[in-house]
Amino acid sequence: MREIGIGLLGLGNVGAGVVKLLKDNAQAIEARLGARVVVHAIAVRELEKARPVEVDRDLLTRDVAEVIARDDVEIVCELIGGADRARSAVLEAIARKKHVVTANKLLLAMHGEEVFAAAEKQGVDVYYEAAVCGGVPVIRTLREGLASDRIDAIYGIVNGTSNFILTSMASVGRPFADVLADAQARGYAEADPTLDIGGGDASHKLAILIMLCFGVTVDADEIFVEGIEHLDPIDFVYARKFGYEIKPLAIARQVEGEIEARVHPAMVPQTWLLADVPGAKNALYVHSYALGASMYYGAGAGMMPTAMAAVSDLIEVARNIRAEVAGALPLRSYQALVHQPLRDIAELRCRYYMRFSVVDQPGVLGRITTVLGNHAVSIAQVVQEESARPSRPDGDDTQGTERPVWVVVLTHEAREGNVQQALMQIAELDVVVEPAAVIRIAQYIVP
Ligand code: HSE
Repeated sequence: MREIGIGLLGLGNVGAGVVKLLKDNAQAIEARLGARVVVHAIAVRELEKARPVEVDRDLLTRDVAEVIARDDVEIVCELIGGADRARSAVLEAIARKKHVVTANKLLLAMHGEEVFAAAEKQGVDVYYEAAVCGGVPVIRTLREGLASDRIDAIYGIVNGTSNFILTSMASVGRPFADVLADAQARGYAEADPTLDIGGGDASHKLAILIMLCFGVTVDADEIFVEGIEHLDPIDFVYARKFGYEIKPLAIARQVEGEIEARVHPAMVPQTWLLADVPGAKNALYVHSYALGASMYYGAGAGMMPTAMAAVSDLIEVARNIRAEVAGALPLRSYQALVHQPLRDIAELRCRYYMRFSVVDQPGVLGRITTVLGNHAVSIAQVVQEESARPSRPDGDDTQGTERPVWVVVLTHEAREGNVQQALMQIAELDVVVEPAAVIRIAQYIVP
């Protein structure tokens, strides 16, 4: 039987999953492919280390170049992560006419142009299903399943760690740091978890999705990003009172010929399927001209789901090799891509949830609503709890009429630039005690 040789770069969580899946599902893979997929070498940082799978010690080397250069390696599977080392390894593999499978969203968001141009020049495949939404096959869906359609907007939960944290905060009110540690222990989080909680990981994935959906390349650094670190458990309580769940969204839409792209926690109406995506699960809601609404859901992080996507890519590249079309098929769903700047976030229009911490004095509400009104931010609903809020464990012991209370405002649709100006002015009012908590409310706005 024909053998397709694999060189694996990295044997962390996902790399171990790839080895396990190739072994556990060897029969099914052979039956589907009519060939055997064989790992010939694995580059690791440490040779002696406990690993979640049993691996033949003779396969291991610390030398990435040695793995890439082997004659029996036809596909290099890059799972080392990060941008720099991965970039040089992938470019080296391509230069040696090796096909590449990668799960590296940072690499593709930062150096995708260079990688794809090199692959096209050398006539090799670069597949990257595992880079976005873990095991959920969104790349294949956008590239092939929706190839005849025109996409207007996508709304995604594309970071499992953030979703896991927000789900736990909403359901059990556990402290942020505890839940993050749990996500790390389960293998969801990046080596640098600030990429997860700060929204960077989601923005890298969004840049890849924008390329596939709209046929343009964008600077991932230009995407508006707001993390989840600042969320307060009380906002989850208010969200539910108003009929919302707080979810970490990545949104890209075509608006007036421009692309609006943003990553931030959002209040999602409980009636939406996206509100019901729990834990580390990911989902992508797509609105397209012919199909209308469609949604793709599943495990967005973790060892076996992510490995599943990478191994499926290995099989697809192996099929291409066998059919002698490897390197001949478009890798990014469009033939030619243009670079496009993103729409200024100040032009975003949406509804807002705002929670102000103010002293309980006559006229305070009027002062806040006046500033909002002056900036054309129209109010849909206001709530002020009758009793003062409870003391915080951090020593909030203000008494009597000086004790802060929360005023919660839901706005009608407003312009982001105006909202930010109004918030700056409100922050300067002498009755305001803490910075306002502001969460955008998600709306499906289809052009
Ligand atoms: N850290 C990522 C997440 C892993 O939590 O979604 C999958 O890309």
